[in-house]
Amino acid sequence: MAKCRIVILISGRGSNMEALIEACTRSDFPAEIVGVISNRKDAGGLIYAADRKIPVEVLDHRAFENREDFEASLTSLLENMKVDLVCLAGFMRLLTDSFVSRWLDKLINIHPSLLPSFKGLDTHARALASGVRIAGCSVHFVRADMDSGPIIAQAAVPVFTNDTQESLAARVLAAEHKLYPHALELVASGQARAVGERVIIDNDDPVDTQLFAPATRSYTT
Ligand code: GRF
Repeated sequence: MAKCRIVILISGRGSNMEALIEACTRSDFPAEIVGVISNRKDAGGLIYAADRKIPVEVLDHRAFENREDFEASLTSLLENMKVDLVCLAGFMRLLTDSFVSRWLDKLINIHPSLLPSFKGLDTHARALASGVRIAGCSVHFVRADMDSGPIIAQAAVPVFTNDTQESLAARVLAAEHKLYPHALELVASGQARAVGERVIIDNDDPVDTQLFAPATRSYTT
């Protein structure tokens, strides 16, 4: 079967992009990366992608009069790349309703919280301030409201008393790198799809239970 053609949108470091590129090197993985687009020319991830011979493009949003013009260029780039699915990976631009409608159910994003909690920026600081004991990350289909849309997969990690924003972010990021390829595989294979505001998953059976729960202690009786 033909592989699902993926373009990844980034704005910075690109560690989630790396995890997706790595997963796509597996011969049995149902997706291939056909391009990486950044809205910033200094995004670190561009070097990694170019080194792996993946076509990279920079589309600087500041060169456009308005959001609509930027998104029109982005759409034509994506159409030229014959993309099936777009993965947002640390792409720091809000998207308009019309762009989201054009790419409805073909646009997925990763957010470093257990949505619908802690949408937006400063996620880890707000999670720590709220006193939650479990944090995590979510991959979801994109809808017009920020960090909203049908949830494809989530991973949970524990929050410890002495956590700092940095230590929590690092623990969540390690989970993100496992979760995003897993979620992409579900969508690219056709096993997961959005139905209304939920995602239906065929044979819904966690491949790696470590993704879905914090470390547990086993007790003997
Ligand atoms: C990740 O924490 C992701 O969840 C969020 O932005 C960060 C991007 O990191 N949307 P990277 O560029 O993938 O390393």
